[in-house]
Amino acid sequence: MTGRIRNQRFAAKVVEAPEAVDLIEPGANVGMSGFTGAGYPKEVPGALAKRVAEAHARGLPMKFGLWTGASTAPELDGALADVEGIDLRLPYQSDPVTRAKINSGLMDYTDIHLSHVAQRVWQGAFGKLDVAVVEVSGITEDGRLVPSSSVGNNKTWLEQADRVILEVNSWQSEHLEGMHDIYYGTALPPRRKPIPITRPADRIGTPYLECPADKVIAVVETESPDRNTVFTPPDETSERIAGHVLDLLESEVRSGRLPRELLPLQSGVGNVANAVLAGLGAGPFDGMTAYTEVIQDGMLALIESGKLRTASATAFSLSPAAIDRFNRDAAAYRDRILLRPQEISNHPEVVRRLGCLAMNGIVEADIYGNINSTHLMGSRIQNGIGGSGDFARNAHVSIFVTPSVAKGGAVSAIVPMVSHVDHTEHDVDVIVTEQGLADLRGLSPRKRAERIIANCAHPDFRPALQDYYDRALRSSFGLHTPHLLGEALSWHQRYIEEGSMRAAAAG
Ligand code: COA
Repeated sequence: MTGRIRNQRFAAKVVEAPEAVDLIEPGANVGMSGFTGAGYPKEVPGALAKRVAEAHARGLPMKFGLWTGASTAPELDGALADVEGIDLRLPYQSDPVTRAKINSGLMDYTDIHLSHVAQRVWQGAFGKLDVAVVEVSGITEDGRLVPSSSVGNNKTWLEQADRVILEVNSWQSEHLEGMHDIYYGTALPPRRKPIPITRPADRIGTPYLECPADKVIAVVETESPDRNTVFTPPDETSERIAGHVLDLLESEVRSGRLPRELLPLQSGVGNVANAVLAGLGAGPFDGMTAYTEVIQDGMLALIESGKLRTASATAFSLSPAAIDRFNRDAAAYRDRILLRPQEISNHPEVVRRLGCLAMNGIVEADIYGNINSTHLMGSRIQNGIGGSGDFARNAHVSIFVTPSVAKGGAVSAIVPMVSHVDHTEHDVDVIVTEQGLADLRGLSPRKRAERIIANCAHPDFRPALQDYYDRALRSSFGLHTPHLLGEALSWHQRYIEEGSMRAAAAG
C-alpha cells in the first residue's frame, strides 16, 4: 500500500483491477472520472476492455454506457472503443479510435454542453447510473476523498451511482489536497439557488469529495501518469492569431470597455488557444484571472510569470514538461488554482456574472458568423462541443479563433454556410484568423459577411467567397441574409473534390 489510503474501511477493500471489473454487470451505465486526459482511471478500463474482448471471443455480447467529464485517454476511451465495448458515449471525446467507431456507426454518441451533463443525470435523462469508477489522489483518515487532477462530473457520479470503484493514484501530487472546491449546494428547479461566486478565487464548497464507505465495492491502487499531451510550439499562424487577439483586448481596454487587468479569461482546448495564452504572457496585462474549463501549459506559464493571479477550472491539461513543473511546485500553486465540478466551472450564471472573455477553437465559420466546432464536412464528428457553448453564449466577449485554412491549404475555414451549426451568429462576437479579425458586434448580416470575407478569409479563397456573396446579394429573394442555397450546400463537396485533386497533383 502506498500510504494514500488513510482510512481502514477503504483500505480493507483494496483489490486488483480484474477483480473489481467482475463487479460491473454487463450493460451497466458506468460514470468514469476524466477530463481532457487528466484524472481518469488507469487500471479498471483496461481490465474491463479485456473482459469485453474475452466475452466477445466467446460470442457473448457485452457493452457498457460510458459517461465521463470530457475526453480521457487511449487507456480508457481507446481501449474500450477498440473492443467495441461502448454502447452510448457522452459527453465529449477526442480519441481517434473512439471517433472512428462513432463515425462508422459502431458506437452511439450524444454531444451535450458540459455544464448540462450533471443536471441531465440528476433528471434521469440517460437512465440510471449504475457504477462510478473515479480516480482520487488519496483518502483521508475520516474517509473523505482527495480529488485528482480533474473534478469533472465526479461529485455527480459518486452521488448517483449505486456502487463505486475508486482508483487511488499515487502518481498524482499529494499537494493537490486543498486545491479543489466541491460545491454541494446544487439542486434541480424549483429548489435551485444562486451559485455564490462573484470572483474566480471564491471558494464556496469543500476540498473533498464525499462518498459513504458502504457504497464502495472496490478500491484499486495505481501509480500511473495522466495522458499529458504535448502542445506543438506556437507557429507563425498561431502567433499571428494571438497577435490579433491581443490587439483586440488592448483596444477594448483603451476604449474603457475592459479594465486594465481584463476580465476572467476562458481559453478552449488545442494548440491555437494555447498560443493565445502564450501571447498574453508577452502582452501588457497584469493581475489577470481565469474562470475556465482547463488549465493548460499557457495558463500555467501565466501563473508562473505572476501575470495571472488566480485560475479556476475543472481540470488540468498539461504537457509532460509542464506537469513536471507543476508536480515539483504544486504546494505553491494551491492558493492560486481551484478545481471545481464542471457544472460550476462552466456554469452559465457564473460565466455571465463574471463577464468571461471566451476564446475557443473552431472547425469552420460561415460568412455570417455561424460556427461549426464539431463536424468535418457536415457529417464526421471530430470531438464535441465541450464547454464552448457554455462560455460562448454567456461570455462578455465571445471570440472564436482558427487558421483561415485547413488540410494544408486545400480547405477554407471560412465558408458560405457552415456544414453543421454549433454556435449561431447570435453567440459569436469576434472571429480571428491569422489573416485578421472581424469584430461582428452590432453588425447586420450583410456587414458581417463583408467584414469576415475581407478580414478573415485566406487570399486563395477570398475571391470565391466574395463572388458567392455578390451573386447571392444580386439574386436572393430576401436580402437580410443573402444565400444561394444550392451553391452554399455544394461548396464543401466542391472543395473535397478540388482538395483531393490538389493533393494528388502535389504528389
Ligand atoms: N475542414 C475540414 N477539416 C478540418 C477543418 C475544416 N475547416 N478544420 C480542421 N479540420 C481538421 C484538421 O485537418 C484536423 O484533421 P486531422 O486530425 O486529420 O489532421 C482536425 O480537423 C482537427 O483540426 P486541428 O487543427 O488539429 O484542431 P485544433 O487542435 O485547432 O482544434 C477543434 C480545433 C475545433 C477540433 C477544437 O477546438 C475542439 O474540439 N473544439 C470544440 C470544443 C471546445 O471548443 N472546447 C473548449 C471549451 S472550454
